[in-house]
Amino acid sequence: MKIDFANLQHQYQLYKKEIDANIQSVLNKSNYIMGEEIHELERQLEKFTGVKHAITCSSGTDALLLAMMAMDIQPGDEIITTPFTFIATAETIALMHAKPVFVDIEPDTFNIDATKIEAAITSKTKAIMPVSLYGQPADMDAIQSVADKHNLKVIVDGAQSFGSTYKGKTDSNLGDISTTSFFPAKPLGCYGDGGAVFTNNDEYAEKIKMMRVHGQNKRYHHKYIGMGGRLDTIQATVLLAKLPHYKKEIEARQNVAKKYTNALQNTVQTPQIQTERTSVWAQYTVQVQNRDKVQDQLKAANVPTAVHYPMPLHMQECFQDLGYSQGAFPIAEKAAKEVMSLPMNPFLVDEEIDYICQAVKSMAND
Ligand SMILES: Cc1ncc(COP(=O)(O)O)c(C=O)c1O
Repeated sequence: MKIDFANLQHQYQLYKKEIDANIQSVLNKSNYIMGEEIHELERQLEKFTGVKHAITCSSGTDALLLAMMAMDIQPGDEIITTPFTFIATAETIALMHAKPVFVDIEPDTFNIDATKIEAAITSKTKAIMPVSLYGQPADMDAIQSVADKHNLKVIVDGAQSFGSTYKGKTDSNLGDISTTSFFPAKPLGCYGDGGAVFTNNDEYAEKIKMMRVHGQNKRYHHKYIGMGGRLDTIQATVLLAKLPHYKKEIEARQNVAKKYTNALQNTVQTPQIQTERTSVWAQYTVQVQNRDKVQDQLKAANVPTAVHYPMPLHMQECFQDLGYSQGAFPIAEKAAKEVMSLPMNPFLVDEEIDYICQAVKSMAND
């Protein structure tokens, strides 16, 4: 059996008619930049998330930059975040000439440990940036209450979690600004780079809309230093074709996760979803102590796996100037050695799930 990790090809074949027609319509109109489909998608995203303003942009990375630009983050400001995430989370903080300040994670959700945030706050702290890792929101009530107490902003890096919920609210509706990524392999992906910023704050929304078009408020009149951060119209039409199917796809991902957990919970450490939260399962990530060996054996059995992420950010060469050393964040460091993501997509059938689980069971106990 040959298992596909994300199976984007199968998804394209399923929605091919709508996707092809949508792309063809942009080609016919040649409205490649900021076509009306961008605005149509933004209205649909607002409806889906329940957030007042959805502003599409060029990537999940640029969405984080736009959020910080809207908040007027200044050189030397500190932003508290997790060391166990994709590089973009902290890279964008550094690109703003601000300083990422890391706080260790919870061992069960892999998200930032809210109980450790307060100790990291200084007079320079301006914001907290939790990440909804693997698709599950962090402990947002606890994070928001620390933020409120110290007058800090909250930016949710929801690159992996579009459509997940926390106490009934979508992940995009948490914090002051929330972002997402439409990178192809994300739960809702386009066919290139793409992202979005979400906020209920009118001032931020106005500023983000200007920032994504070089800070301009009128053609060739630039109020701010901004960036070229627009989503392409073609990518918006791909998302418009996929969005109506997304709720069904989330349910299918949740079913796959449930089957994995039922089969594997006595073999490996399976992911924990906290009460009153849902995950969109960007990744189904287990923990195994003999990870490298298990990965090699699964590869031989044609089961692809991935490691998100093998090195925590405080250990990355590019962040050595922050002055952290090994042992600073033991839970993140342990996770980096043990996590392994299994194939996850809405189209996995029972036969494939059984095959993957059998392979994991025989190898993890080996
Ligand atoms: C947590 C997190 N933040 C930010 C990003 C950046 O998104 P993009 O690849 O769309 O720039 C990603 C993408 O992998 C991510 O996983």
